[in-house]
Amino acid sequence: MASQAQIAVIPGDGVGPEVIGVAASLMTQAASAQSCDIEITEFGWGSEHYRIHGRAMPQDAADILRRFNGILFGALGSPSLPDHEVVGSLIELRKQLDLGANIRPVNRWPGIATPFVDGLDADFVVVRENTEGEYSGVGGRTRITGVGDVAMAVAVHSETTIASLARFAFLHARHRRGQLTLVSKANAIHHAFSLWEEVVGKVAAQFPDVTYEICLVDAAAARMIQRPGSFDVLLTSNLFGDVLSEIGSTFQGGLGMAASANIPTDGSTPGLFEPIHGSAPDIAGLGIANPVGAILSAAMLLDHIDQPGAAADLRTATRAAATSESTRTTDLGGTATTQQFGQAVAELLKNPLAFGSNEA
Ligand code: NAI
Ligand code: MG
Repeated sequence: MASQAQIAVIPGDGVGPEVIGVAASLMTQAASAQSCDIEITEFGWGSEHYRIHGRAMPQDAADILRRFNGILFGALGSPSLPDHEVVGSLIELRKQLDLGANIRPVNRWPGIATPFVDGLDADFVVVRENTEGEYSGVGGRTRITGVGDVAMAVAVHSETTIASLARFAFLHARHRRGQLTLVSKANAIHHAFSLWEEVVGKVAAQFPDVTYEICLVDAAAARMIQRPGSFDVLLTSNLFGDVLSEIGSTFQGGLGMAASANIPTDGSTPGLFEPIHGSAPDIAGLGIANPVGAILSAAMLLDHIDQPGAAADLRTATRAAATSESTRTTDLGGTATTQQFGQAVAELLKNPLAFGSNEA
């Protein structure tokens, strides 16, 4: 059945426009093949907007975005501008849109070189708290005579947020391998993480079909390297989720490969989909950025707007192009540019047999 979706695209800074240009076009192509017409509205927010207007996005950015079915986002940040204001606007936007869950899938694709030995498989999802925790922004800095500058950063952890995130994560686990690990640190950050353990424990009792365990974050980091296959869904705080998912990206072949979704736990606002990497100023403008993380984020967006067929097609084609030596980008040891990689995926979407079977 023909359908229509309104998608907001914010390419952002650095490699953002390079990878998002490719991802948005492939998303539209994959959807169109399933009779879904995607209409894109692009917003030029980011560093240039900051230079002109003194802020990276308009004040009513969240209201503007609310009318869309989904948002595809690149990355923000320029070396010459204050990160906490430019990148900070994205963190603020996640709060304003109430995007309580940050989903970061980690899949190891055979055929892509990583620092890990063959056979060490990874197939897990980090569900990261996205609007408060260690990134609450609450705090301040003062100068105390004889002590010097003192900074205070207050982490905020609230029962309602943890409970709705936990329900979301358990539902997710139910549709995967039925295993959920709460990554905690109640031994050292007692106030915050004893609340997490208490609240998540109550939600766990409502999901007897999901195996539930608690793992301290330091142990979880080591276990992720040694036994990644022992994780299915990891539920954790904002900071821990940020760090653990970037460790996870090394199983995928690097930062350019990793996708993420920012989802409202109550489904009331559009989801925001973005690669986990930043604006990569060291390679911006060279046309060599790996667009896989952005494309896989666009595939998550397609799932979000109820286009699972288009999402699956886009993932299959992207995986085939990334695991083929002739079409992968330089960070994966290939020679393809961002555009050439995008063209290879576009060809595969048109004709999946064009490259033979690269599915491992
Ligand atoms: P980064 O993720 O931009 O880059 C880290 C390293 O990964 C660099 O060597 C870069 O070349 C490489 N890399 C990143 N994306 C790649 C891709 N698609 N293909 C190939 N290689 C890739 O992190 P960094 O350097 O710490 O931050 C740069 C800027 O991005 C800063 O201003 C930072 O605040 C911002 N940032 C923004 C984020 C966002 O908008 N969501 C997230 C993370 C960082
Ligand atoms: Mg990060």
